[in-house]
Amino acid sequence: MQAKAPQQRNHTGNGRREVQPFGRRTPSHRLHAASTSTPAALVAPPNPMLVSVVEALFKFPPLFEQATKKARGMIIQRAKAIGLDWDGTLQQLQQQDWEARLQEATDPAAGSYPSYYIQPFHAYKQGNLCWEAAQEFMLSSQSVHAPVMDPENKKMDPLGDHMLRSNYGKCMLQLMAETPGAPQPSAVQAVLDVGCAAGLSSLALRELFPAAHITGVDLSPHMVAVGRYHQEQREVASGSKEPISILHRKAEDTQLPAGSFDVVSMCLVAHELPQHATKAILQEAYRLLRPGGVMSIMEMNPNSPAFQRVFANVFAYTAFKSTEPWLMEYVTLDLHGAMREAGFEAPRQTENSPKHRTVVAAKPLSS
Ligand SMILES: C[S@@+](CC[C@H](N)C(=O)[O-])C[C@H]1O[C@@H](n2cnc3c(N)ncnc32)[C@H](O)[C@@H]1O
Repeated sequence: MQAKAPQQRNHTGNGRREVQPFGRRTPSHRLHAASTSTPAALVAPPNPMLVSVVEALFKFPPLFEQATKKARGMIIQRAKAIGLDWDGTLQQLQQQDWEARLQEATDPAAGSYPSYYIQPFHAYKQGNLCWEAAQEFMLSSQSVHAPVMDPENKKMDPLGDHMLRSNYGKCMLQLMAETPGAPQPSAVQAVLDVGCAAGLSSLALRELFPAAHITGVDLSPHMVAVGRYHQEQREVASGSKEPISILHRKAEDTQLPAGSFDVVSMCLVAHELPQHATKAILQEAYRLLRPGGVMSIMEMNPNSPAFQRVFANVFAYTAFKSTEPWLMEYVTLDLHGAMREAGFEAPRQTENSPKHRTVVAAKPLSS
């Protein structure tokens, strides 16, 4: 059985219980860090020479394979350390007729796969286009994010992934409240989850916008098939249908109607993309939003001290790079500038973990 993501709760003076932001061990970080509309500065890796040496070494297949093997081993080891039943969960999942589910999930509307997508990612040779990646997604996400609130000491917390997502929701709502013309959360009817994978981010959006239908799009039919399976299981357990649809689509060209969404969220996707793809997705999001609609992005924060430490350490950078081929493209992208270029107004940013940021911008009401 997969461990349930529990809520981290904290007693407050007024007797109510609240979800505690950023975990117990990082009191210096606060959920409501001052938001800013200042464009994020471009980050130059602290040691460009070292970075280019590592990049060059990665073109040597045995080294690449060794590094990805190590990275994958660490993900599994961490999952077990936080109490997840890695083997049992996968054995149970593997009993499904996945080929039939793949056929049902595959949609010609997704079009062809761009070359940047047909790459090894996250230590999977076939990247997101394989069963391993899709079936292990929920487990890996919890494992990878276990130390997210304590990047310095790397204290493992089974709640890490849950807190990261819950803080993202809070930051998104906070920034929406500061954005003129943005919809009230209770009035949000239609939300698009770009790169939804097996549906964790769609689930979080559903909790945030109770009146909305959530449409998740992902370019991996394997992810779509597994996401739909998880949804079916939840619906059987709860006895009710969820307002979530997971579609096999390319985020740059979703084939969905213009002006049909109040909110577009892109959670932990941009670091998997070359800059031209992120820009194309932002343009598509702009087309899909109604005037006054909101684009929200949650991603690693290249300017955070925790992230900067990764660049200063050849071993940490090598491990990271081995699983994320487009990392440097993301890190050197001026995200606020790219949002403005796509037509969005006044991007605002806040931190939702010691390593992650939330950026929100609106499509002008006059558009
Ligand atoms: C790291 S996962 C993040 C998933 C999810 N949003 C979350 O927060 O857990 C990135 C996902 O983006 C998807 N993706 C990457 N490029 C895409 C594209 N161009 N169109 C649609 N999905 C894409 C991948 O298939 C993968 O499932």
